[in-house]
Amino acid sequence: MTCTWLVGSSRRIGIKTVRRYLPASSKMIHAATGRNLDTASALETQCGAMYSETLSAHTTYHQQSSAAVETRPRVWLITGCSSGFGRRLVTSALARGDRVIATARTVDDIKILSSPNLNVLQLDVTAGFEVIKARLDQAAKIWGQIDVLVNNAGVGYLGLLEEGRSSLLEKQFKVNVIGTLDVTNAALPHLRASKSATVVMLGSRSAYRTERAGLGFYSASKAAVHSLGETLSVELAPFSIKVLIVAPGSFKTEGIYGQKFFTSNSIPAYDELRNIAMKRFSAVPGTQKGDPDKAMEVVVDVVKGEGKAKGRPWPLYLALGDDADEGIRQKSTKLLRHVDEWGDVVRSVNFDT
Ligand SMILES: NC(=O)c1ccc[n+]([C@@H]2O[C@H](COP(=O)([O-])OP(=O)(O)OC[C@H]3O[C@@H](n4cnc5c(N)ncnc54)[C@H](OP(=O)(O)O)[C@@H]3O)[C@@H](O)[C@H]2O)c1
Repeated sequence: MTCTWLVGSSRRIGIKTVRRYLPASSKMIHAATGRNLDTASALETQCGAMYSETLSAHTTYHQQSSAAVETRPRVWLITGCSSGFGRRLVTSALARGDRVIATARTVDDIKILSSPNLNVLQLDVTAGFEVIKARLDQAAKIWGQIDVLVNNAGVGYLGLLEEGRSSLLEKQFKVNVIGTLDVTNAALPHLRASKSATVVMLGSRSAYRTERAGLGFYSASKAAVHSLGETLSVELAPFSIKVLIVAPGSFKTEGIYGQKFFTSNSIPAYDELRNIAMKRFSAVPGTQKGDPDKAMEVVVDVVKGEGKAKGRPWPLYLALGDDADEGIRQKSTKLLRHVDEWGDVVRSVNFDT
């Protein structure tokens, strides 16, 4: 007999119910529903379920709920507000009537007009979980809540993989990846207490454009950020915490292109390639097409379900810029071409049944 189940699976209890009864009958049709369709999709994969009709009915619900405009001022906590995207995002969120806790390694570097809705806090994202947790607990007391966490702080180290070695990779990951996870974990107890919590992760189109000599350390760190964001979106769905992975292309900010190319372990065999890469990266500052003010306005639109995001479903990803669009398309096409061209081989390695 085939049973049809309709389970509110974005709630923890619903997920447990689906999982518990899953193995009982492979012929069941499990209808996983919820505000977060990524959770529902994950369950679909696990269940091998056919639930497209239910899914489309609940897509409407999901779209409505993510489009609902929150009127209460939200409290944002943003890392890396001394320059670039971070500084602009503070201004954009304040202009929409929200409250912001702007953090930076050096608070004096936060040059934003004072406002009763703005508080500043010293935060180095590499300070380690315990220090960061103490800071964020302190931050949550300012307005009694944190609703939106933006993991914006980041650095971009340029260098060839053999020359930079794992030591440069560690340095890169310490800020962009470990820092992001530590700050997120420290914020989560407060986000769980919020009624409209969002975690924003600053990824990059470099996560997709990895075939570029000199960019390996940075692009690996941003690929890791994307991956963490994707998993977080599922792990945080039971608490109705949304995740947004922002993937900007090239934007004219102050610092990210400021790092010198790593040359202190030069291997002569790479001289030509290193010179080409150095020339290419040094030509970028000043030529970026992306306007960081516009980009951060869109981020605020999405988080608040306003402006350009009004009426649209919640996007896990927010690609920003023509070059981001191009990078995603190229990477996706390349991977699809691989499974098309090599599909018979790809699918030929299961155990014989
Ligand atoms: N601009 C682009 O084209 C682009 C494209 C894709 C992704 N992104 C990403 O967007 C984010 C912001 O970059 P941006 O372009 O705005 O660059 P930016 O102007 O250099 O800003 C980076 C910010 O991160 C802060 N930071 C660095 N290390 C930190 C640490 N250990 N603890 C706390 N803060 C730290 C910097 O503060 P200090 O002043 O203290 O160094 C600065 O405020 C980064 O994650 C970057 O990877 C940028």
